[in-house]
Amino acid sequence: FLCEILQGNLAIPDFEYFRQEICDIFETTKRFTSGNVASYIPQLARVNPEQYAAAICTIDGQRFAVGDTKAEFCVQSCSKPISYALALEERGHDKVHQHVGREPSGVRFNELTLNHEHKPHNPMINSGAIMTCSLIQPEMDMADRFTYVVEKWTAMAGGGRIGFSNATYLSERQTADRNFALAYFMRENHGFPVEVEKNLTEILEFYFQCCSLECNVQTLSVIAGTLANGGICPITNEQVLRPETVRAVLSMMYSCGTYDFSGEFAFKIGIPAKSGVAGALMVVVPNIMGLCIWSPRLDKLGNSVRGIEFCKELCNRFNFHNF
Ligand code: DON
Repeated sequence: FLCEILQGNLAIPDFEYFRQEICDIFETTKRFTSGNVASYIPQLARVNPEQYAAAICTIDGQRFAVGDTKAEFCVQSCSKPISYALALEERGHDKVHQHVGREPSGVRFNELTLNHEHKPHNPMINSGAIMTCSLIQPEMDMADRFTYVVEKWTAMAGGGRIGFSNATYLSERQTADRNFALAYFMRENHGFPVEVEKNLTEILEFYFQCCSLECNVQTLSVIAGTLANGGICPITNEQVLRPETVRAVLSMMYSCGTYDFSGEFAFKIGIPAKSGVAGALMVVVPNIMGLCIWSPRLDKLGNSVRGIEFCKELCNRFNFHNF
């Protein structure tokens, strides 16, 4: 890191200027108070909607956070790119994509639908994430698998704390008719690997556990930073994911990461992102930095209102659009 400074090779050389711009974007976008917090489970409905935080982590480990930076939230669907990444690392691209497609679904994230090959459309929607979860360490028992996943998250987060909301997990499990329906529908269509298809309950419980992981914006920004950095954690320099895994994950986030806003997001903002129903938005500017913005009020499509506004403003001020 010191060498990079001395050679003037930092991803964001004038970090102090950039930090001020981020603060300014944060203040400017605070005024967006439309939308509602998710209410399908009480644990999310009870969250204070005023909360707002943003954090960045550059590929060389420069970090900054503003707002409610210590508050922990459920990662929810921000777990989907990570579950996809772990499945790819273990099972390889061909195996994973025997079971899940790569196309936007064009319908809601929990819609009861499969693609023309009877596979879930992509790993960023519920059916696809349930499928990728079924591919992660199937031979481990549930406790070991959970530990394994938390260790991987922690490595991507450079040692940042990865928590777990048991109440959210229990609540998700209790109100999971749609996810059970999706899993049964996929089994009816012989979608799962044969060796795991008997264990649908176990697969779903593991999926709910991944959704119920908790962290703060700083931690999630480091994970985004690892994705921005080709799988090498910017804090520890550990290669946690292979570059080809990261390429696949970012491609999916780019085309499918923000529900039915994904096309608009790709068009207007032009970088990979994944949103979650607790109001987190994990954003990657490849080869520059990872960001996390979190604010619980969601728009009609299910994305954090402030999260989206923050990204629009960021890309108005800086030339981060891919094209
Ligand atoms: O499984 C569910 O419906 C929620 N736990 C998923 C939440 C979420 O963020 C939706 N994402 N695509």
